[in-house]
Amino acid sequence: MTEKRQTYADLKDELLVTREQIAVRIKEMAAQITEDFRDKDMVAICILKGAAPFFVDLTREIDLPMTMDFMAISSYGSATKSSGVVRILKDLDKPVNGKDVLIVEDIVDSGMTLSFLRENLLSRGAASLKIVTLLDKPERRRVPLTVDYFGFTIPDEFVVGYGLDYDEKYRNLPDIGVLRPEIYED
Ligand code: IMP
Ligand code: MG
Repeated sequence: MTEKRQTYADLKDELLVTREQIAVRIKEMAAQITEDFRDKDMVAICILKGAAPFFVDLTREIDLPMTMDFMAISSYGSATKSSGVVRILKDLDKPVNGKDVLIVEDIVDSGMTLSFLRENLLSRGAASLKIVTLLDKPERRRVPLTVDYFGFTIPDEFVVGYGLDYDEKYRNLPDIGVLRPEIYED
């Protein structure tokens, strides 16, 4: 661990993805996105709240004119598993019809949240739609989903930090780690 923080006490000792690794990977992904969205009418959409730190860091590295919008959704289910029933808590401010959309998400687990979002935004008339996610847990996929840019592939473990929460906590940790199972197994 790069530094011992009190807020890391509920995490397994070995961090899964460090802030240094995140920063390097974000530069690579942003370079690719900059190439792919050149001459497009780009809007980057942050899926609140989990994607917020990633969204801020990623968009600062994308060297293109763009607009930003924010959407908050909740997927019903237990604290560590989503059910696939997605509800929009805060909708976009602006229409996306005719826009080239980049959805920015923190993690793909079952894939249900993003497959809902893809259909939802395409049905509003987005000209094109790409998805970028920082983390991917491919072992848990339940619906087929095309993701255009992945940061890191991780094993089937519940992770927190850098936006990702358990029970709304740990979002402020700068690195990503595995939550000790005794924290949620009760
Ligand atoms: P999906 O619909 O199953 O793909 O779930 C995606 C959402 O579940 C993400 O946006 C996260 O909010 C949440 N999620 C899935 N896995 C984790 C995890 O390991 N830690 C924290 N949140 C997670
Ligand atoms: Mg989330």
